[in-house]
Amino acid sequence: MEKYKIELKSEEDQQAEAARQLAFIEEAGKIVSEISESLGRPLYSTVVTFGCQMNARDSEKIRGIFAAAGFQDTQSEDDADFVIYNTCTVRENADQHVYGRLGHLNSVKRKRPGMIIGLCGCMMQEPHIVEKIRKSYSFVDLIFGTHNLYEFPELLVRTMREKKRIIEVLEATPYLPESLPAERKYPFKSGVNIMYGCNNFCTYCIVPYVRGREISRRPEDILDECRRLAADGVREIMLLGQNVNSYGKTLDVPVSFAKLLGEVCKIDGIDRVRFMTSHPKDLSDELIEAMASNPKVCRHLHLPVQSGSDRILKQMNRHYDRAHYMDLVRKLREAMPDISLTTDIIVGFPGETEEDFRDTLSIVREAGYDSAFTFIYSKRTGTPAAKMADQVPEDVVHDRFDRLLEEVKISAEKMCARFEGQVMDVLVEEKNKKPGLVTGRIGHNLVVHLTGDESMIGKLVPVRLLECKGFYYIGEPER
Ligand code: SAH
Ligand code: SF4
Ligand code: F3S
Repeated sequence: MEKYKIELKSEEDQQAEAARQLAFIEEAGKIVSEISESLGRPLYSTVVTFGCQMNARDSEKIRGIFAAAGFQDTQSEDDADFVIYNTCTVRENADQHVYGRLGHLNSVKRKRPGMIIGLCGCMMQEPHIVEKIRKSYSFVDLIFGTHNLYEFPELLVRTMREKKRIIEVLEATPYLPESLPAERKYPFKSGVNIMYGCNNFCTYCIVPYVRGREISRRPEDILDECRRLAADGVREIMLLGQNVNSYGKTLDVPVSFAKLLGEVCKIDGIDRVRFMTSHPKDLSDELIEAMASNPKVCRHLHLPVQSGSDRILKQMNRHYDRAHYMDLVRKLREAMPDISLTTDIIVGFPGETEEDFRDTLSIVREAGYDSAFTFIYSKRTGTPAAKMADQVPEDVVHDRFDRLLEEVKISAEKMCARFEGQVMDVLVEEKNKKPGLVTGRIGHNLVVHLTGDESMIGKLVPVRLLECKGFYYIGEPER
């Protein structure tokens, strides 16, 4: 049988599909109010995010659809009528986390049989996982993947109506889920997808397999979304993609990420722009220039290095070497002397020797990171690295991991302290657990706890950074 190839549909078809899905939201609304009436109470939904910022943004869309259909959001899975787990499969422990929580959910559902359980996200793009859930987790009512988030309204209606298990996973994206409502976690900041998927195939990584090939959104659609968010009170925007530096290359009219960034900064009401993630192989001088010349772009760059060893970087298929990476660091610091750099590092990639690992320790020292996410290499079925010889023994990896943490801590404490005594704008995000304190971030992404009250949430406040406590600051608003 010839395999049906899924391709991104035309703009016209996209709009028609969006209209179809909006009609399903209305239909879902009718079903929800019928059930609520018969129960004499509202229906509750909850969405749990297991993965990265892109996964979190997808959860906001699912939450938006639930809200538009009349569900009330709850934090507690124990009282929810509809629970969705938005899964991640980047490392083995992400999968284990989902299975663990599903076990608990099963016991909740036994007490409340009407409860509906749905799974979506990156794990669901792996056929062997869907098979396992199909066989051993019969209490799961709905499964969909990353490529058919756009049809969640339709799946919602079907799940509530048909009362039988629904499994719908596609191999690629026909429609983008752009015109659907979204509920932001914070009223004053939001992620905005600029592209989906990844073409890089780093040898350890499952993301290109579960997220598919790179698709860039059209700049006018991204800018429209940003303008709408600004009008709705958003001050800070995070442009999202697995490799934002390759944004726009495949568009009918190609646009660089640097240009897009410049355009987003022109929008009135947006005070801060961030982006994630930057791949070092595609970081252009044009982008460094666009960052440096634009005060709205936060002085923070997340630039995953993964390893400091040229040999391992090559095995990882990262397409840069240590010298190129350090050259970027130098250029960035020349253009923006106070910039904060953060990174991702993997320890225990197959074949990593003590010498390779020491190269990683030394690049942490040389680059001077404000913080780093450190990961133990996790074997992902289907990736080239899973078949490589010389998987590093567990005890060796754990020892290296601890040594790396120590190195990162030394670097982070040193870097964090550099702003002590200065006044910087803090975007206040939430009340602190301690009464009389609120918490926010400076553009460099460092956390600051300052005296204040709820009325400051969502505002940019000039704050004197009085004392650095290792990884965060205690500050006082400047009057
Ligand atoms: N697109 C981003 C990364 C997304 S995944 C980039 O290339 O920068 C986030 C991080 O998870 C990666 O940077 C990597 O450090 C880590 N990661 C990915 N696959 C992994 C694996 N198999 N084992 C351990 N860490 C992994
Ligand atoms: Fe994974 Fe590499 Fe793509 Fe990042 S760039 S998502 S690490 S394959
Ligand atoms: Fe995880 Fe998927 Fe993000 S695998 S890291 S949720 S793209």
